[in-house]
Amino acid sequence: MTETLSEIRPLVAGNWKMNGLSAALGESAEVRDALPALGKSAPDVMICPPATLVAQLAAASKGSALAVGGQDCHAAASGAHTGDISAEMLKDAGATAVIVGHSERRADHGELDRIVKAKAAAAHRAGLTAIVCIGETKGERLADLTLNVVNRQLAASLPDTATAHNTVVAYEPIWAIGTGLTPEAKDVAEIHAAIRKNLESRFGPAGKGIRILYGGSVKPTNARELLSLPNVNGALVGGASLKAVDFLAIIRAYG
Ligand code: 13P
Repeated sequence: MTETLSEIRPLVAGNWKMNGLSAALGESAEVRDALPALGKSAPDVMICPPATLVAQLAAASKGSALAVGGQDCHAAASGAHTGDISAEMLKDAGATAVIVGHSERRADHGELDRIVKAKAAAAHRAGLTAIVCIGETKGERLADLTLNVVNRQLAASLPDTATAHNTVVAYEPIWAIGTGLTPEAKDVAEIHAAIRKNLESRFGPAGKGIRILYGGSVKPTNARELLSLPNVNGALVGGASLKAVDFLAIIRAYG
């Protein structure tokens, strides 16, 4: 199926990171219950809770418009990898997507582009959508290397199996994550345009339809400006996804 940009349905995904005990499912229930009242322009909505809550959240969201994703997976389907979970396990637990290559995983666990690529391929193998994260450090931005970094990460982190249906790219400048800082709108637009160009040149028509999310200090106060930019097809939201009222305010930026 070929898709054009105008047909891209946006996605607002919440990444809870290492936050949330069972009691936090009250917040996700509030989000789930608010979705049916949203209008035609509503985006797809997803929450990626910690692995301990994936099955519970998926069970609670079954039949609703709220999708559930994991935050990481191992590249293998099973095996002797203590503490890891596979894409197949996430799928079995009810997830439909998994974040791979988040900058916190790249930093905390030494995940290189080739590992991220293998994890994205694992997500595809399991029938999950891979949300592949890329983004530059503050130093790289100051050295004017942002586009080089982003293009390098795209080339090395995306597997050849990527399509508009099984892959989402999340551009998350590392210096904007959890800091309250965001790039200027014109910079976000420029970088997303470069990502689109890269995806189109590698994947052809599929590259036109792959969603490109912006992530990094997305809040109710800046969501409308960021999400209305060309080639910004949604958001990957950290801190502001933990409270239903804030996450819903971001989702309603599409209203
Ligand atoms: P914040 O929204 O808390 O800046 O986090 C962004 C992020 O890392 C989402 O994956």
